[in-house]
Amino acid sequence: MEKLRITGGRRLVGEVACSGAKNAVLPMMCAALLTREPVTLTHVPELQDVATLLSLLERMGVSVQRSGDTVTLCARTIDSPTAPYELVKAMRASILVLGPLVARAGEAVVSLPGGCAIGARPVDQHLKGLAAMGAEVRVEHGDIHACARRLRGARIVFDVVTVTGTENLLMAATLAEGVTVIENAAREPEVQDLARLLVAMGAEIDGIGSDTLVVRGVERLHGATYRVMSDRIEAGTYLCAVAITGGEVVLTDAPARALDAVIHKLREAGCSVEVGEDWLRLVAPRRLRAVDLRTAPYPGFPTDMQAQFMALDSVAMGSAVIRETIFENRFMHAVELQRLGANIHIDGATAVVTGVEGLQGATVMATDLRASAGLVIAGLVAEGETVIEQLHHLDRGYERLEAKLASLGAAVARVER
Ligand code: UD1
Repeated sequence: MEKLRITGGRRLVGEVACSGAKNAVLPMMCAALLTREPVTLTHVPELQDVATLLSLLERMGVSVQRSGDTVTLCARTIDSPTAPYELVKAMRASILVLGPLVARAGEAVVSLPGGCAIGARPVDQHLKGLAAMGAEVRVEHGDIHACARRLRGARIVFDVVTVTGTENLLMAATLAEGVTVIENAAREPEVQDLARLLVAMGAEIDGIGSDTLVVRGVERLHGATYRVMSDRIEAGTYLCAVAITGGEVVLTDAPARALDAVIHKLREAGCSVEVGEDWLRLVAPRRLRAVDLRTAPYPGFPTDMQAQFMALDSVAMGSAVIRETIFENRFMHAVELQRLGANIHIDGATAVVTGVEGLQGATVMATDLRASAGLVIAGLVAEGETVIEQLHHLDRGYERLEAKLASLGAAVARVER
């Protein structure tokens, strides 16, 4: 098992290019199931989650060609509309094949994702939406079975704002008969990017970027070539990594407009942030001020940046209250940060972080992708060596993490156990 070893105390300075967004490319790869023509995606990050989904799609009969950051997927026929437990367990986003499979192949068997490290994460809204569109949906022996000769347009009102739920039903609706209206839809930039790919494939979608999506179903979609947006969570993670060290960074190919809530908090913490069309420049003070935050659906503060900001608050001046409203169990990193010397009190969905003068390196355990990112950020300022175990979590979502950090001057290495 590989681990990441970080020696803290270096000020990070330099330039980093942002990779393609994990949470945009995954639904886009599933959208290729909607057409028999090739879909070419560029700016595809090299991530474990992308590899996992490619192998799932290949098992279904999708042909895959990869060259550098370009991936071409062609679902001329779908041999087996099935997503087994091993793959869904490895990556919950596998649920995104459900909508496209029912819409195109008329049937799907997708393992029901269980809970995970950050909460129960049900998919009832995905299933409710498909049923409203006329699919017969049942859960048997841990698998979702869904079938429909052709889905029908319907009005779907989500009880909660769900990102992959919106994406699943949006994809399904493109090939349904008639008009589908999705209300209380997620507005995340990745949902918008998926919608734009679908439009490029011939889908008719109104309301992109709003909480009401109106989809006029078409008989068939065609192939397209599309550049995946840059990863706002990766970008935000590097901004935090540099900010905690009192450094300076220019992010190129940055999803600048998708980062408003994060930039606002970094400024509140004392950083100066310049925002260009596709670049960002951050200059951090010697010590940050603690910032309160409350996670919320986009355009609110992203839950996927909560752990990174908890790391910043751990060493900032003053104390901060962090409220997690999206996932019920997303403070696992707090106990690991405490092992580095952080002063954090958890009460239900609220964490109170009192900034300390310094952290001390230790061995810590990554519990999920973004929790790991928070620990890396803390390790960059902890005195001595921090070793992060369970590195596979980071490999799911950060392309060339240690190379990018090292290019900014961090002392970081991947080591074998
Ligand atoms: C996506 C992102 C993940 C991010 C999350 C919230 C991808 C691949 N993953 O996950 O990185 O942290 O959005 O921004 O894009 N819920 C239900 N029933 C449902 C669906 C969701 O109750 O059918 C609840 C969830 O338990 C959670 C909330 O809704 O409390 C939001 O979850 P959701 O937006 O669905 O998260 P994901 O799409 O799984």
